[in-house]
Amino acid sequence: MSETVTPNPVAPEGFFDSLQARALSPGWAKKVPQMWPAPRSRFVPAVWRYADARAALDDACAFVSPELAERRNLIMVNPIADNIYPTCRNLVAAYQLVLPGETARSHRHSPNALRLILDAGTDTFTIVNGVKVDVAPGDVVLTPSWHWHGHSNFGDEPAFWIDFLDVPLVQNLECMFFEDHPRRDEPVVAHEPDSPLRHKGVDLDRDTRKTGTVDIAPGGLKTIGLQAIGIERGQTQSHGKRIDNNLYAVTRGSVRVTVEQLGVVDLVRGDVIAIPCWHTFGIEGLDDSSQLIRVSDEPVMTALGFREPTSG
Ligand SMILES: [Fe+2]
Repeated sequence: MSETVTPNPVAPEGFFDSLQARALSPGWAKKVPQMWPAPRSRFVPAVWRYADARAALDDACAFVSPELAERRNLIMVNPIADNIYPTCRNLVAAYQLVLPGETARSHRHSPNALRLILDAGTDTFTIVNGVKVDVAPGDVVLTPSWHWHGHSNFGDEPAFWIDFLDVPLVQNLECMFFEDHPRRDEPVVAHEPDSPLRHKGVDLDRDTRKTGTVDIAPGGLKTIGLQAIGIERGQTQSHGKRIDNNLYAVTRGSVRVTVEQLGVVDLVRGDVIAIPCWHTFGIEGLDDSSQLIRVSDEPVMTALGFREPTSG
């Protein structure tokens, strides 16, 4: 005895074309799923070397003029298809060089930013909202959203630093504003070597040797979390899958990072590693006392109430 098979009803001819013409898409026949059980980062773990960037920036001085000093930087572009900018989902990082005698013009923007000074001589400073803030190697200097900022190097040594910004997040939220300062270089109205926006490398160095991990300016930037992490030789820190995206820069000694999908890499001072969400990783100290600066989008996740689900 043969079974009766009910044929699937078929959409009338032209139905899907007609939907497309009205910018509608059938939820019962999605081409690509839009939800999944756990985070799937489009971005990959990746490493950038200070030595490579420094050599390339030195070369760039031959053809990138002092007038473009604020743009003489090398963006750490996550190496995935069609990416031209973000270092990880919500953050971008770039190596920057400002030569002696140069000033990077003053401007402000809705993205939050910070710079981590790698190498600089004396008389290198940032002007934030008219306040001159000196910088030195190892310093972390914050420029919160919509604060005027410009940078000058009036010393004898080239200044290298890493800029970190939440530009990819701001682009996704479509709340971007930017303007150049009407005076090009913002006039200095005060000098604050101990500005609350400046977190001195010498203090971070001392504190991480003493206590291990130090939170830098909690809440100082609403979207970016910052920590200085001290790690002894042979000590290992293991991290499970997290929803936040992290960039680590080595500021003292050297470390070995083992990260899912990438493997094992050794990093020295000035090197940066991107660790996207939902990748397990571990960090091992290779020197007597090494230090990393962790830059993450953790405050965004916390503020919005997103977190790893607990079982049950
Ligand atoms: Fe800026």
